[in-house]
Amino acid sequence: MPHIEREELTPEESDQLLLPGGRPPLWKHMESIGAVGLQQREGVPSCSQKGLPCPSDSSELVLECLQQFKVTQTQLQQIQTSLLGSMEQALGGQASPASTVRMLPTYVGSTPHGTEQGDFLVLELGATGASLRVLWVTLMGTEGHRMEPRSQEFVIPPEVMLGPGQQLFDFAAHCLSEFLDAFPVSTQDLQLGFSFSFPCHQTGLDRSTLISWTKGFRCSGVEGHDVVQLLRDAIKRQGAYNIDVVAVVNDTVGTMMGCEPGVGPCEVGLVVDTGTNACYMEEARHVAVLDEDRGRVCVSVEWGSFGDDEALGPVLTTFDHALDRESLNPGAQRFEKMIGGLYLGELVRLVLAHLAQRGALFGGCTSPALLSRGSILLQHVTEMEDPLAGAARVHAILQDLGLSVGASDAELVRYVCTAVFTRAARLCAAALAAVLSRLQHSREQQMLQIAVATGGRVFERHPSFLSILQETVMLLVPECDVSFIPSVDGGGRGVAMVTAVAARLAAHRRLLEETLAPFRLNREQLAAVQAQMQEAMAKGLQGEASSLRMLPTYVRATPDGSERGDFLALDLGGTNFRVLLVRVTAGGVQITSQVYSIPECVAQGSGQQLFDHIVDCIVDFQQKQGLSGQSLPLGFTFSFPCRQLGLDQGILLNWTKGFNASDCEGQDVVCLLREAIGRKQAVKLNVVAIVNDTVGTMMSCGYEDPRCEVGLIVGTGTNACYMEELRNVASVAGDSGHMCINMEWGAFGDDGSLGLLRTCFDANVDQASINPGKQSFEKMISGMYLGEIVRHILLHLTSLGVLFRGQQTQRLQTRDIFKTKFLSEIESDSLALRQVRAILEDLGLPLTSDDALIVLEVCQAVSQRAAQLCGAGVAAVVEKIRENRGLEELTVSVGVDGTLYKLHPHFSGLVAATVRELAPRCAVTFLQSEDGSGKGAALVTAVACRLAQMDHV
Ligand code: BG6
Ligand code: GLC
Ligand code: GLC
Repeated sequence: MPHIEREELTPEESDQLLLPGGRPPLWKHMESIGAVGLQQREGVPSCSQKGLPCPSDSSELVLECLQQFKVTQTQLQQIQTSLLGSMEQALGGQASPASTVRMLPTYVGSTPHGTEQGDFLVLELGATGASLRVLWVTLMGTEGHRMEPRSQEFVIPPEVMLGPGQQLFDFAAHCLSEFLDAFPVSTQDLQLGFSFSFPCHQTGLDRSTLISWTKGFRCSGVEGHDVVQLLRDAIKRQGAYNIDVVAVVNDTVGTMMGCEPGVGPCEVGLVVDTGTNACYMEEARHVAVLDEDRGRVCVSVEWGSFGDDEALGPVLTTFDHALDRESLNPGAQRFEKMIGGLYLGELVRLVLAHLAQRGALFGGCTSPALLSRGSILLQHVTEMEDPLAGAARVHAILQDLGLSVGASDAELVRYVCTAVFTRAARLCAAALAAVLSRLQHSREQQMLQIAVATGGRVFERHPSFLSILQETVMLLVPECDVSFIPSVDGGGRGVAMVTAVAARLAAHRRLLEETLAPFRLNREQLAAVQAQMQEAMAKGLQGEASSLRMLPTYVRATPDGSERGDFLALDLGGTNFRVLLVRVTAGGVQITSQVYSIPECVAQGSGQQLFDHIVDCIVDFQQKQGLSGQSLPLGFTFSFPCRQLGLDQGILLNWTKGFNASDCEGQDVVCLLREAIGRKQAVKLNVVAIVNDTVGTMMSCGYEDPRCEVGLIVGTGTNACYMEELRNVASVAGDSGHMCINMEWGAFGDDGSLGLLRTCFDANVDQASINPGKQSFEKMISGMYLGEIVRHILLHLTSLGVLFRGQQTQRLQTRDIFKTKFLSEIESDSLALRQVRAILEDLGLPLTSDDALIVLEVCQAVSQRAAQLCGAGVAAVVEKIRENRGLEELTVSVGVDGTLYKLHPHFSGLVAATVRELAPRCAVTFLQSEDGSGKGAALVTAVACRLAQMDHV
């Protein structure tokens, strides 16, 4: 960490440093004072009489003394860097002595919507010196006008500020009663937000333990205790009113939250009042003490304690040391003691006393008041420093202190005030610059646009403080575009906001939970799905009424490795239509393939058009591969339900997914393909096998792993196949051996058996599909539908006001706008919420960070249900195989393909976990198919060719 160095200044630098906006340079002032000379006052001994410096020497002395208050730009940069390092260490949870700032997470996770409503009681303690404020704040939501809060200020007696804690909280409870007596309110339901401006460890929105008193407070028995509880106890002891303390916040948080939202939200709160501090919205994952990797959280920097490890050494003056020694908390809050309003008057007093003692002011005389602690207050400094206030006011203040004021004294005193104030503003700017750099870094933005809410009496009463701060911030972080917005009604409105936000978030969470509850399936529900599936499988195999068709595929064996030859394959029905050349050699399988598009008008046009298009693609592929004229055996992956009567015969039962070409259902697809080949006379093709994609996938994985006896697809659609005992298959003759069964599980539940699990969102998606009432299971699981389910939930949550501030947009009402691939992207941990925001902003949806979290939760609920239902299906299949074989334990592999399964970050894990849970006696390995089911179709063809050759022999 860089240390802060002492530096000599050039006169230009000094000019710049001491100059708040628009004031003539101090050095020039000094020169003019020197030229005019100081007038001697009547009754005051002259310098020469007292052996004191001459007037011009006085101004030299003042200047020399004020040199100590100058902080160069390099030093400011060093403070900025050092504080930033300290902040990052504290965020990272490193208990290093150098990390003197505390970085305390608050329980505020979102900035206000502007929709907050309701009446709130606010109690402010600790922000403004010895006064305590009670407010009644009415928030009107977006529609209403702003209502001025009612407020009352109470002065806390010094003995209460330093006495037992119980006395302080009893005093606060008494003030609340007095306020409510004076302003009776109609409601019984009093919700209070407590602004408590001291460093606290917060463990909940209404739980906060005081770490240590700062500023002028030192009550016994409070440090280490929950201040909310202490207040609640005191209110109870008081007994007059029933007040619920809903939230506790630091004043910086109140300041940030109370800010009228401008173009963007206000994400930094800066207070310079009795003390100084800032808070800002940090990414939760960067805050080590929080076990949270999502969203943002407001962190109170507690920068007042920066420098307690002596990092500030070189910029501390003798006056700072003297002030610290005499304070209630020596050695602590060293940075705050150079900036906070509680200390500025005291610093000025110490400088003036020193200068008077050196003879540079007041004719070398001090007064008892000037020598007493606390005699110069912030308000005196503010008035004396104000360029618009006349010299007469300065005179009056100094005279009140019992000082005899010479003509030049007023001017010189004003310089002292300016020097002390300017330094405070510049140091504060360096600290703010550290916060802005931190924000820029954590948000990875090159140009940070940010609004900073400012609060506290120093800002309110001393406008030049803000202008110096602003100028300095621009110098230190030129890459940040900062707008400063004064907070409304002090922090009081913000505290009410936090209380309202807490109430709103709780209400929204309830609505979100209610909406997503039907998607969260428990073990019993999943086990019931598994049982129903097993029952439907058995019925389907027996030819009884069942939503599972259990179609025989005429694939009786997985490859044995002896297959050889060159094959063509087609792969139709997934995301891509592909034509492949598959070479099966002793050394393995080589594949050359090309993807062709099937325009929607073709997929949903006439059957003839579709099959002509397919043949055109094959011809093109043959030409490109130099295969024209050759009649290679062809395997056709056709990913739709077909009743097969042999390997090369498949009657399309019905289209699924996005296909709907006319005159195909009820037809043999191989015939349709052959007819299309016939229409293109130049082509010769030998169609050997038609294969479902599940079967292709199982065969393809089976080539590598003989235990692979199940094929699973979770892509555009979903389905599974597995090796069944032939004796169980009623529609195929023979009792020995196996046959692969295409379950067509997408249609599971079409008989209404999934009724209880289906939500209104599933019903919406079904109604809008091209095949309403069909493919119930598929519509809850596969890629073609999940995005749509999410979109319908988002529409519902928007209508409840939980999302997008209740504003419906045209975009979100557009079908298929929310792609299933977004679920995979949104749920990918590494991209986190940034991704959610980018996607939704791309869709033109207005978004807050709460919205992003909600969208993420919706996606998670929908994809989790899909994966669990799929897992329940796989559990049914593997259990069936185990039972068929009468095994105690079954070891089996499942070949899987499909974009959703492969691209989604958690889908495969959830499927596997569900299978483990529901089928504990099966050890299931999932193998991802790398080459698509085209390779499997070629292998089925190869097996068929091998068997045909054997028949010939
Ligand atoms: C591919 C197969 O690998 O997976 C296709 O070759 C299949 O035939 C597909 O339909 C399923 O995935 P998707 O996501 O493309 O529907
Ligand atoms: C002190 C307190 C801090 C507060 C600040 C401004 O630094 O420790 O919590 O925010 O003063 O009032
Ligand atoms: C649909 C089809 C089915 C296919 C699945 C996966 O459910 O009907 O045959 O296997 O999608 O592509």
